Amino acid sequence: MDIIGIDVGFGFTKAYNGKNSVIFKSIIGDASDIQFHSVFTNSSPSSNLHITLDDKSYFLGSYAELQSSIREFTLDQDRLLQNYFKILAVAAAGLCTDSFATIQVVSGLPVAYLKRDTRKLMEAIAGVHQITFHHIDGKSIKKSIKIDKISIIPQPIGSIFNLIFDEEGRFVEKSLATQKVGVVDVGFKTTDLSIFDHLQYIERGSTTMDTGISKCFSIIAGKLRQESNINIELFRMFKFMESGVIKIRGKEYNISGLKKKIYEHTAAAIAADLSRLWENDWDMDSIVLTGGGSVELADYLAGTIEGNLIPVPKNLDARFNNVQGYYKFGRHKWGHGRLASGQASAEKAKEEQKEKAEPSAEKQAMPELNEEKAGTPSKGLSWLRRKG
Ligand SMILES: Nc1ncnc2c1ncn2[C@@H]1O[C@H](COP(=O)(O)OP(=O)(O)OP(=O)(O)O)[C@@H](O)[C@H]1O
Ligand SMILES: [Mg+2]
Repeated sequence: MDIIGIDVGFGFTKAYNGKNSVIFKSIIGDASDIQFHSVFTNSSPSSNLHITLDDKSYFLGSYAELQSSIREFTLDQDRLLQNYFKILAVAAAGLCTDSFATIQVVSGLPVAYLKRDTRKLMEAIAGVHQITFHHIDGKSIKKSIKIDKISIIPQPIGSIFNLIFDEEGRFVEKSLATQKVGVVDVGFKTTDLSIFDHLQYIERGSTTMDTGISKCFSIIAGKLRQESNINIELFRMFKFMESGVIKIRGKEYNISGLKKKIYEHTAAAIAADLSRLWENDWDMDSIVLTGGGSVELADYLAGTIEGNLIPVPKNLDARFNNVQGYYKFGRHKWGHGRLASGQASAEKAKEEQKEKAEPSAEKQAMPELNEEKAGTPSKGLSWLRRKG
């Protein structure tokens, strides 16, 4: 059975199953009939995402951005969950899996919505989904995806799990088990702060702020609207923010100075939020920066956050940190299903023997890891011994 981590962010939808990873913008558009594809069309599956789910067809991600007449994206948690989550999550899962797959999913919610929305999220994606992927060469591939088990965790904790578990869900980074670690997850809309102390989730030090990268985008889009009278949709800002230059009706605007100022200001706001929230947590061993936005803000955050910052590695895409951690946690929780069975049982026996002799730090800290059937969230957080 496949285990898949799925992270539906306000900016990007990510999925990872230990083998394949996918990422596309969390944009949904109407599927129009495209009569001609040029030879230059990017043929990677996530660049031309055209799906049918529940008798409705959609373009997703950059394909929707490019080709749909009505494009929808949202920065509202309720709308994301009610209208888009299922479509984005099932498409991401379908891209990773075979035609007939029963999967176990680990996903996450922003800290502030964990309690409120866990059940809704589970109900949105539990069960069997028939999804069709339409390729640009005219072929269609139908997939039937059964989501059997779901586990929902606070989003930033995914990044911690990514550090402490290996790909088989084994505990590798033992030093973090004896530390108090803060996580700063800067996403497109939200910045999530969280504390993991000796592998326990600390509710009191965990919260969600609205200081994501989209706020910077909207300030710049607002300035550009004043200058040019053009309303720029936020998801179109990515490439201009990267290049620092935007051309509107032939006129070029250099936004790099403004971007620097706004990023500096946002980094200072994040640093102020966390020093307020973590005022009494001066005994924190280290602070992990994660989420795609942390790459953008890395230089500015480094100078403003006090503490032992674990730097953002330049060669990795920090947008995947949470989803890779979700997958690894799934492997930890649901076992070594992907290993060849002989190897898996040998590994398991070895671990059980070791465990008897010396219970691992994580077993001591985390209570019994319960399995939840899809749609029964009550036990879903039982491993999180909250301290507040
Ligand atoms: N290669 C890249 N391409 C696009 N954006 C990138 C890239 N690298 C970093 N980023 C930054 O990553 C941000 C998105 O990060 P991430 O995917 O973690 O957010 P999200 O999970 O979608 O948002 P949220 O957590 O608020 O729901 C973008 O705003 C952008 O600034
Ligand atoms: Mg995120």
